[in-house]
Amino acid sequence: MDFWTDYIETEVGCVTDELWGSVENDRFDQIFPSRLRKLSQLCWTPVVVASHAAKLLVRKPGTRVLDVGCGPGKFCLIAAALTDGHFTGVEQRSDLAKAAKDAVLRECIQNIEIIHGNVTDLSFSRYDAFYLFNPFEENICQNQSIDRSVPLSGDLYIKYVTYVAAELCAKPIGTPVVTYAGFAHEVPSCYDCQVSCFAGDLKLWVKVREAIPNRPFATIRHRSRRITANRAFSKLGKSPIEDARAARRA
Ligand SMILES: C[S@@+](CC[C@H](N)C(=O)[O-])C[C@H]1O[C@@H](n2cnc3c(N)ncnc32)[C@H](O)[C@@H]1O
Repeated sequence: MDFWTDYIETEVGCVTDELWGSVENDRFDQIFPSRLRKLSQLCWTPVVVASHAAKLLVRKPGTRVLDVGCGPGKFCLIAAALTDGHFTGVEQRSDLAKAAKDAVLRECIQNIEIIHGNVTDLSFSRYDAFYLFNPFEENICQNQSIDRSVPLSGDLYIKYVTYVAAELCAKPIGTPVVTYAGFAHEVPSCYDCQVSCFAGDLKLWVKVREAIPNRPFATIRHRSRRITANRAFSKLGKSPIEDARAARRA
């Protein structure tokens, strides 16, 4: 664990909501069509977060990382450019999967594969490490949903979380999972949180013990400041980021 502790202490300082409005983030998003750029603030990983997440996940060349719900591929694109891991993104929305594939082709990045499909159709056996930016919460908090092009429901939330938790339970001890925002319900109790940064929004979990049969799930161990804030503000029809920017302009 020393590597990660040292890494976080030296590399990650104090981070604020500047993340989502940074010049580098806005510039990166230019690779997406404008409809997808507008979703970036809430739905796609900020550049600096993706960079740290990738370095936490890829500890040796060739590490195979699965991004569960890759959207237009922002995390995969950044991570593949910055590390020598191999990144697979699975995305259920066809337009997002197409945008991701288009971006991969345009940028000529070799170490990315984008799969259009539901994560429940994918075995985790081919992957060494996993990234989850809160993929399933739109099922239980539909004012956060990207669009209505896919079925959303509480039952689906349970189905997806249960599937991912079972696949993660089956991975060997030492398997890393990075979560960004959300409740991290998908991370089973045989994983411990070993690094927390970006004000608790980005977490590295590592499998440290074998799963207890029939008790794979963790109680809620993580609540993201970011999603909680966004949810509260979205009820008011406001964005916390816009508010922060307006306050700075005033
Ligand atoms: C919050 S976005 C994160 C996108 C990307 N990982 C990133 O970090 O920029 C979550 C994505 O998960 C996708 N998703 C949700 N449920 C899914 C499922 N069951 N199978 C595949 N993709 C799913 C959504 O369509 C959405 O694009």
